[in-house]
Amino acid sequence: MHTVAVLSLKGGVGKTTVALGIASAALRRGTRTLVVDLDPQGNATSSLDPPYTDATLVHVLEDPRRSVLERAIAPSIWSDNVDVLVGSEDLEQLNEPGADARRLENLSRALDELHQKPLRDTPYELVILDCPPSLGRLTKSALVAADSALIVTEPTMYAVAGAQRALEAIEKIREDNNPGLRAIGVLVNKLRVRSYEHQFRIAELRDSFGSLVMPTAITDRLAVQQAQGACSPIHEWHSPGAQEIALTFNMVLAKILRSSRAGRHRIKSDEDPLDTDNSDNTEDTANPEAPVNGVDREDPAGEVYELRPTNAPQSG
Ligand SMILES: Nc1ncnc2c1ncn2[C@@H]1O[C@H](COP(=O)(O)OP(=O)(O)O)[C@@H](O)[C@H]1O
Ligand SMILES: [Mg+2]
Repeated sequence: MHTVAVLSLKGGVGKTTVALGIASAALRRGTRTLVVDLDPQGNATSSLDPPYTDATLVHVLEDPRRSVLERAIAPSIWSDNVDVLVGSEDLEQLNEPGADARRLENLSRALDELHQKPLRDTPYELVILDCPPSLGRLTKSALVAADSALIVTEPTMYAVAGAQRALEAIEKIREDNNPGLRAIGVLVNKLRVRSYEHQFRIAELRDSFGSLVMPTAITDRLAVQQAQGACSPIHEWHSPGAQEIALTFNMVLAKILRSSRAGRHRIKSDEDPLDTDNSDNTEDTANPEAPVNGVDREDPAGEVYELRPTNAPQSG
């Protein structure tokens, strides 16, 4: 079981979109997945539209026992292979900035419980934590529970500052609570390929974060909003724009599954068909030309947008 936190300390940049895009790639790959909705706005829960549960993440964060978890997890409308640990607007009340370490560990305890004894016959291979935009107890709990963290940003002014703050939060939690936590990358979302401003901001991000900026970006596409509005996984939305973005999410998923194998909830290599990479070099695994399971690189439906040095000069 691998747990990835999707974060940015800014609202509206696409955390939920990215969390759902990764879940959609996992669904396509047949990877059993749990999406945990930590945002009091509950957008991930709305999009995944599970049946009513009489408990939510609020209860799990207060009391991470199995009996509570069972009541707070439900299958998504997408598939029985993608479950939701249901969010609630009451989460806001738990989002105090100075929660003690014990309380911060409750989500981690709950996920350990799922890891040790799966709710159903097939255990979760992937847990995606959709974070709120603030650095309170909710995002910290996610970082304490995660094996890896993916930073989402828009290519706009303040993107560098926002990503820097997110990276600092990851580093602080790694030092204080979770030594196994890794930053897997900075994923640029809502890119307008022809925008000079966006290319300039990407160059800035690369100056600051180098190879941590992921080599493919998610473009700004109406299809994203259309698929979300229809509660559909992006992989099942049949427009060229959606297909292009779906391919990018396949690559992001492959990188997540490959780059953070050292996590606490490590799965044995013989269990995972993607485990062909023995190196821990995340730059290597970021190579968009690397063979990626489940990705048809010749897919005629669309092409992923790769950030190239010509349009986004990389420093050093
Ligand atoms: N790549 C994209 N193309 C078009 N619209 C997008 C894209 N990513 C996100 N959006 C839209 O932007 C809004 C905010 O995205 P969301 O994922 O909810 O952000 P966050 O979770 O960071 O607050 C939503 O309406 C979403 O549909
Ligand atoms: Mg969100």
